[in-house]
Formats: sequence, C-alpha cells, structure tokens
Amino acid sequence: MNSPVMQGLDLKTPAYVKNARLIAWVADMAALCQPAHIHWCDGSQAEYDAFCQQLVDAGTFRKLNDAKRPNSFLAWSDPSDVARVEDRTFICSEKKDDAGPTNNWMAPAEMRATLHPLFEGCMRGRTMYVVPFSMGPLGSHIAHIGVELTDSAYVAVNQKLMTRMGKAVYDVLGSDGEFVPCMHTVGAPLADGEADKTSWPCNPTTKYIVHYPETREIWSYGSGYGGNALLGKKCLALRIASTMGRKQGWLAEHMLILGVTNPQGKKYHVAAAFPSACGKTNFSMLVPPAAFEGWKVTTIGDDIAWIKPHEDGRLYAINPEAGYFGVAPGTNTLSNPNCMASLDRDVIFTNVALTDDGDVWWEGMEQDTGKVPGHLIDWQGKDWTPEIAKQTGAKAAHPNARFTVAATNNPALDSAWDDPAGVPIDAFIFGGRRSTTVPLVTEARSWKEGVYMAATMGSETTAAAFGAQGVVRRDPFAMLPFCGYNMSDYFQHWLDMEQTLLAKGSTLPKIFCVNWFRKNEAGKFVWPGFGENMRVLKWMIDRLEGQATGQETMFGIAPGYSELNWNGLGFTAEQFDTVTRIEKGAWLEEFKLHDALFEQLAYRLPPALLTTRNNLEQRLTA
Ligand code: GTP
Ligand code: SPV
Ligand code: MN
Repeated sequence: MNSPVMQGLDLKTPAYVKNARLIAWVADMAALCQPAHIHWCDGSQAEYDAFCQQLVDAGTFRKLNDAKRPNSFLAWSDPSDVARVEDRTFICSEKKDDAGPTNNWMAPAEMRATLHPLFEGCMRGRTMYVVPFSMGPLGSHIAHIGVELTDSAYVAVNQKLMTRMGKAVYDVLGSDGEFVPCMHTVGAPLADGEADKTSWPCNPTTKYIVHYPETREIWSYGSGYGGNALLGKKCLALRIASTMGRKQGWLAEHMLILGVTNPQGKKYHVAAAFPSACGKTNFSMLVPPAAFEGWKVTTIGDDIAWIKPHEDGRLYAINPEAGYFGVAPGTNTLSNPNCMASLDRDVIFTNVALTDDGDVWWEGMEQDTGKVPGHLIDWQGKDWTPEIAKQTGAKAAHPNARFTVAATNNPALDSAWDDPAGVPIDAFIFGGRRSTTVPLVTEARSWKEGVYMAATMGSETTAAAFGAQGVVRRDPFAMLPFCGYNMSDYFQHWLDMEQTLLAKGSTLPKIFCVNWFRKNEAGKFVWPGFGENMRVLKWMIDRLEGQATGQETMFGIAPGYSELNWNGLGFTAEQFDTVTRIEKGAWLEEFKLHDALFEQLAYRLPPALLTTRNNLEQRLTA
C-alpha cells in the first residue's frame, strides 16, 4: 500500500496521540481512502462550533432562529438516505452459521474484496475526520473505545453529542489500549477541484454496513444517516458488543433504562426493549399523570443498555451512549414534555420541517396547541401548506426525522446515568407494536417463559428502517436488526443467564410483555399510552412488591381491571377488555408465526423454547 506521505499527505498526528496501532491504522486508511486533508478531532466546543459553521457554509446545515432555538441546526438528507438499510447490513463472521439465518452474511475475505475497491479513493477531495469516542463512561472498566474515520463533518458533530468524544479518549487509549476501528465514508469522492453538487453527499446506489465480529471491525459505505453512519451506536454498541457479551457473559440490548421512584423514596430500575420507533425514548422520559403524585421517572438511557451480572447476583445496566438520536414526529408537550424541554437548545435536527420564523416543525406537534402552521418548508425543501398536504399527502417532516441532543439536556436525567457501576435491574419489559392479538400487559411465569415471549415478539415495521411499513414481522428481543450473531445462540445466551444469576443466589428480575398499540375497529389506538403507561408500570411494581394478585392467562399473569389505578382517566372495563382480551383464534394464528420463526432458526434453537411453546398452546386449547 502507498504511504500517505508518498501521496503528499501529512498525517499531522497530534503529539498527544501515542497509540501505535491507531497511528498505523490511520496511515493505512488515509492511503486507501486518499482524503485531501486529515483532521484529528479533539472534541472541544470550539471544534464543534467550527464544524457547524462549516456545515452551514456547505449548505448541509441551516442555523435555526437563535431566539427560538439557540445554537441549533437543521439538516435535510438526500431522499435516498433517510433510514437504516437492513438489506445492506452484513455480519461477516468466518462461518455463516455464526451470523445465523436472520442476518445477511458474506465470507470476510469476499466482503473485503468487495469493499476494497469501493474504499479506494473514496474520500478524494474531502477531509478525513479522526473521531475518537468512548461508549460508556470514559475510562471505566465497562466502557469500550471506538475510533471512527469518516469523511462526514455531520457525523463528527453528531458523535460529539451522542458519545464521549474527544481528546481524553487518547489518554485512556494510551500507547497500547484497545479500540474498535470504525471506517465510514459517504461514498461520494470528488474529482480534482470539483465542488459538491449536493448538500448531503452519499452514494444513492451502493451502500454497505459491514461488521467483522471476530476481528471487531466496522466498515460503512454510502450512507450518512443515523445508525448507518454513527458507528458507535447500532454497529458497535449493539452488533459488535452483543458478540463481546456472548463471549464474556453479559448482554448488549436494544433497551431503554429508567429509574422509577415511589412517594416513599424507594427506587426501582427497569430496562425495556421495544423495536425501532416503538416508544423507548418516550417511555424513558415518562411523566406520571396527576393520579401518581409523588412518583418520579428518570432516564438512564433511551436506546441501548449494556447489562452485566455482578457478584451480588443482580444484573447492572449502563447506557453506553451520551445523547439521544430520537424520533421527532409524534413528539409534543403532551406526549413527551421532558423530550420537548430537552430540545429547547443545542440540537441537531434532521429531516424535520422549517417554519417561516426559522424554527422546526413536525407532524404531531400540533396536538397540544391544535395549530398547524399555514406554511412550512418541508424536509425536501419544498413549500408545504395544510392544503398541499391534504391534496398530495406530503409530510412536512420525514416519518423517520430525528433530533440529536446530549443527554445532559434532559430535565429528567437520572443522577446515576453516568455511573460506571450501572443500576440494578428489577424488571425487563418487552413490547412490540401490534394493532391486534397481544394484550396490554402480562408477566411471564418464569425466566424461560419471559425469554419465549421476547424471542417470539412481533411488531409492525416502522420508518426507522428502509422498506415496507406496517408489516408484522418477528423482531426477537427488538434485536432482529442488531444481533451480531446467530439468533438461536442469542436465545441460549439469555436462557443461560438464569443459571448464572441463580448460582449467585439472586432473585431474578421479573419479565413483562406489553403492547401499547392495540387498535379498535375504527383503526384508532385504544390505550392512551405515553404518560398513562405509568398505570401499567405501577402494576409491575405492585407485582415486584407482592401487592397485586393478577390472574392467570394463557400468555402469563395479567392485571384485573380493578388492579390498575384509574384515577383521572376515563378508561372503562370494556375498553380495558379491548386491549387485554386474548382471542383464541388470533392466538392459534399467532403460534403459526412463532413456529415459522422457530423453523427458520431450527438449527441450534434451544429446545426449552419449543417446550414452552407447547405448554402455552396447551393452556390456550385447554
Ligand atoms: P428508536 O430510536 O427508533 O429505537 O425508537 P424508540 O423506541 O425510542 O421510539 P420513540 O419513543 O421515539 O417512539 C416512536 C414513535 O412511537 C413516536 O411517533 C411516538 O409518538 C410513538 N409512541 C411512543 N410511545 C407511544 C405510546 O405509548 N402510545 C402510542 N400510541 N404511540 C407511542
Ligand atoms: C433505531 O432504528 O432503532 C434507532 C435509530 O435507534 S438509528 O440510530 O438510525 O438506528
Ligand atoms: Mn433504536
């Protein structure tokens, strides 16, 4: 390989970077990608501000009205680059079976041969940013370091908000510390002297999101959006970390983590897995309704949890991230006031609409005021009015429009959110988006039954991933797009955790299954959701305390109508029945979908899941 020096490029390695492997890798990658410049990020505020200005100058960012939304920016992506690309995401383990039937796989050597020509010269005419970041509190035993090389300044500024990014990472790395190399390019090299023709360079036809779990490398080509490009998030903290966790006896999960404190000051911690765009951010920032005076919910994390068994026999969870990349549409001061407050300042918005006074707007924002702006510029830069929307169905904001904001902006941030020791988990919740069949809440009768419920979870697909929407698919543990190894082995790993915890003399966390999304015949959500989910959370805590009897159903223990606090909410027993009823016919069909998943995963599928399945079906038909 040519050295960059031979091509006249000075690496300009700062004196404080002492890690020989890192320096050699950056040199190799610079030689491969042939950027015009290299910038080693220090993570300072001055650097962030300079990058934002640069993005404004390039037309990628628009500075929002400083009086309304201080220090905030709006980016509109290319319409071909708006969400994760699951069909272009690969787990390249040596053996196909180790990726398993739910992942796209290619042999590492073949993938390397495919990617090499794509990366050759891919950063021509651009700057290569060296972005050092820590997933988890800097320097803690639980954290992992990544270094992302990217030709996107948008990625660099997002990483500043989403991770612990900057110079201090090099001190932790020292001369021989470990890091996960994360290669990223938008895949749009510029010819000599050529300027960008677009404010969102990407490769509209070729995209690859590639993971080599054995060598712990990430290679991402062609997209600048979200999980495709912010490689610490789904790629490192879930796909690569899940393979680490499997080896080392811990869990990397697509879960929010929240603290809930009762009026007496007793605190519980809950981790909940809902698929993409199915309510994690919302649940993690929940504001209890008036009937729950004295109760408080605080956020530890909104998307990813790393969970480890401790000597005391309990599972402790940390949030490896430092910011939120959250769904904007649907967010308002009624549905999620804490989130709206988080977005007051210092935010990067992507693909929301621009108001005439230089602020942002998205569908659902009108639900509190009842007011829809008379004119907007939509996420594609076009005029938008309520009339145009009525005629064409045009959305002002893309359904997967997002905000990026530091966790420290969240008024409900838990005091332990940054604690390397993590928080002890009392309960797990699993929940998909299902308009039918799955009841509001049930509790698993055993760890195994809980693992079964999570493994067979179905959910309607959302705008978070490119492709058809609203289609029910199995999304085991909300990890279908994020498990870095064979899903059957992942189920076994979860089953094994029971023994690990029992051996330490633990009381196991309870496992619950929820569904906020059941609809009536008119196609409307019956359960009010959002803050009202507190009523369900409280029942779970009553169960932890042995204060709610519950009743047996085919699919676990469910609350009777009278076991939930209904103060301040007109929700009738009949409506309750609509969201909790277990219909035999629907469940016979549901089991067929479980069976189809198990057939796909038959090789290495833990037999315990089949036994559990048969027990449940027997209860249904008994
Ligand atoms: P990712 O960041 O994609 O992993 O998503 P998430 O799970 O954090 O989803 P988020 O909380 O951002 O919610 C996504 C969408 O679900 C938003 O449009 C919300 O308005 C909607 N939503 C969230 N909670 C509820 C709820 O309790 N009921 C209903 N009906 N909708 C909800
Ligand atoms: C998800 O899709 O689950 C997300 C958004 O959290 S992204 O980071 O784009 O994957
Ligand atoms: Mn997510």
